[in-house]
Amino acid sequence: MEQTFIMIKPDGVQRGLVGEIISRFEKKGFTLRGLKFITVDSAFAEKHYADLSAKPFFSGLVEYIVSGPVVAMVWEGKNVVTTGRKIIGATNPAESAPGTIRGDFAIDIGRNVIHGSDSAENGRKEIALWFPEGVAEWQSSLHSWIYE
Ligand code: PPS
Repeated sequence: MEQTFIMIKPDGVQRGLVGEIISRFEKKGFTLRGLKFITVDSAFAEKHYADLSAKPFFSGLVEYIVSGPVVAMVWEGKNVVTTGRKIIGATNPAESAPGTIRGDFAIDIGRNVIHGSDSAENGRKEIALWFPEGVAEWQSSLHSWIYE
């Protein structure tokens, strides 16, 4: 089953959105496989966003991510990468539809509350970076009520 890396960014934590965000993924039917509350340093944030190192907003993005604790998670389910990105909404909250996390809770792109892997391959890389110890092995008892 596909997995994705989801991070509630420091603004999402500070604004008390952790429960709301976890609830949206849970209610959809996805399975939580890993979760940690962690403050990362610049070297780690730079690694996570390495692909964006040439962007003009890179240093501001790294500063934002290290500014407080984040909630790092691994969610699992059929099409969880694509569907997770739909639940999250467009990168720029000005373009995120109402009903999505960013559409409901964010205004500025540089404070967009949440990150989700943009492909299954990047999901694997990000999970390996954030959860080198691995994730929990379990299957929800609701599985047969969610998948046919
Ligand atoms: S890009 O430029 O197309 O590669 O960027 P994009 O794929 O839209 O976004 C990648 C991540 O960069 C963040 N981002 C920004 N942060 C701060 N300021 C500005 N202007 C900005 N533009 C993009 C964006 O939120 C994405 O972060 P994650 O954590 O991956 O969602």
